[in-house]
Amino acid sequence: MAGNARGMKKGLAQYGDEAFSLYMRRAFVKAMGYSDDALTRPIVGIADTGGDYNACHGGMAKLIEAVKRGVMLAGGMPMAFPTISIHESFSHPTSMFLRNLMAMDTEEMIRAQPMDAVVLIGGCDKTVPAQLMAAASADAPAAVVVTGPMMTGRYRGRRLGACTDCRRLWASYRAGELDDADIDEITGRLAPTIGTCMVMGTASTMACVTEALGMMLPGGATVPAVNADRLRIAERTGRRAVEMAESGPRPSEVMTADAFRNALVVLQAIGGSTNGLIHLAAIARRLGLAIDLDEFDRIGREVPMLVDLKPSGEHYMENLYESGGLNAVLRELAPHLALDAPTITGRPLGENIEEGERVPGQVVVRSPDRPVRPSGGLAVLRGNLAPGGAVIKHSAASPELVSHRGRAVVFESLEDLARRIDDPDLDVDADSVLVLRNAGPRGAPGMPEAGYLPIPGKLARRGVRDMVRVSDARMSGTAFGTVVLHVTPESHVGGPLALVRDGDSISLDVEARRLELEVDAAELRSRRESWAPPPPHPGSERGYLKLYMDSVLQADQGCDFDFM
Ligand code: FES
Repeated sequence: MAGNARGMKKGLAQYGDEAFSLYMRRAFVKAMGYSDDALTRPIVGIADTGGDYNACHGGMAKLIEAVKRGVMLAGGMPMAFPTISIHESFSHPTSMFLRNLMAMDTEEMIRAQPMDAVVLIGGCDKTVPAQLMAAASADAPAAVVVTGPMMTGRYRGRRLGACTDCRRLWASYRAGELDDADIDEITGRLAPTIGTCMVMGTASTMACVTEALGMMLPGGATVPAVNADRLRIAERTGRRAVEMAESGPRPSEVMTADAFRNALVVLQAIGGSTNGLIHLAAIARRLGLAIDLDEFDRIGREVPMLVDLKPSGEHYMENLYESGGLNAVLRELAPHLALDAPTITGRPLGENIEEGERVPGQVVVRSPDRPVRPSGGLAVLRGNLAPGGAVIKHSAASPELVSHRGRAVVFESLEDLARRIDDPDLDVDADSVLVLRNAGPRGAPGMPEAGYLPIPGKLARRGVRDMVRVSDARMSGTAFGTVVLHVTPESHVGGPLALVRDGDSISLDVEARRLELEVDAAELRSRRESWAPPPPHPGSERGYLKLYMDSVLQADQGCDFDFM
């Protein structure tokens, strides 16, 4: 019965008697007041990722209600179920450490519980990637609804956005330009509504990328969390999920090689988060596909950046929504896209993008002949310091630093960074290259968003706002600066980053896509001979940390577990 079974008959608990299993299931579901009619309908599961620890998912209850309404209007039976939820500010040591756990939880709950299709409601940075990884592996018909971006706030007449302005204002505080009272007041203005960060950070990036992949209904990426359209999108998704329960498509039929290429084009054109690249690599890997970093870099040279949003530009997600949303971007990008890529609407991407408002005079989505930048937002660097690649968001870097040579100032770990960065005796100047190691997938562990190293206090107070920074860490998509990330292999596993010493010369040339440690090969060989791996992390002999340390892959493979 289990193989082709549908609805309540699907995935029965095993007692060695299927009729008994179904009888027991019906008894328990009836305990919740369902009728026999309800039990015959196609079931749409709804992944509930709400909770008091996740402000970005603060609209969850209303969204679930709207999805349920859509499912019932279409004659299906909705069943919400909880999974892990991850918020950036409430996850120790870092949200990325837990992404794979959420992906496993979501995948197994989709498999274990009877459902013919699933609506995945996520939003905050790691939740949508985890859900797409789960959807790829479970391969039941799936549609994503995001919780939607927050509205912007204001402080002393100036518009504020999380978290680009969180970082800008914190830098001003460190430089002594704002005091404790200012920063207290600002804390209440940075995130003035529920929803995800409203700049082109990772949450916004993944929302746009999910729509481009075809896993979300058209128009779903950009609607603000508090706009009534957000609930209508959720209702429409519930309706569509009932049709998908009958006839698909499945994630493996939507997330094809063409769909991933489309997603990479969008990632470049929106000035998206570097994290998007890691997550796409993880999702693709679940489907037996690979993200080719060099191909991604080539796309970046061909595809202009068209979306004028912070941190690379000026505007916020609510402005992108008012300017026609992602469809307006996709229409401009049409010559670069595989328009026949399938989507969950049942129609190819090229048909979907004809939908949506055309907004005369809008300035947020540019045309290719008047781009924000003539090339994409991200570049892949190679060189003896990053044989497996490194990434820079050059759209958010200082133009005067994208070709730079400086002497390394090395921090051994996050703890070392915290201890010494503001030391008045730190031997550093504005031309130095700040290096952080042991902050990669295994090194930290969890590859925290520590790549945006703070400017040393004594330089910040002198007005230095950007320096070249190099690490095996990640960076928040909301951050800006000349920051080289995801250096692969990471130092913890003996990558060349482990061999850098204070005073070494490091050269960065973004145009040539090079990152070089200017130390001769013989010296590097001798340093390697005396290198020893760091001791195991405390607690890594058991539990999830052990699973993680035994199995996590490097950034170029999406930091997924090797057995997934
Ligand atoms: Fe959740 Fe920014 S903290 S999206």
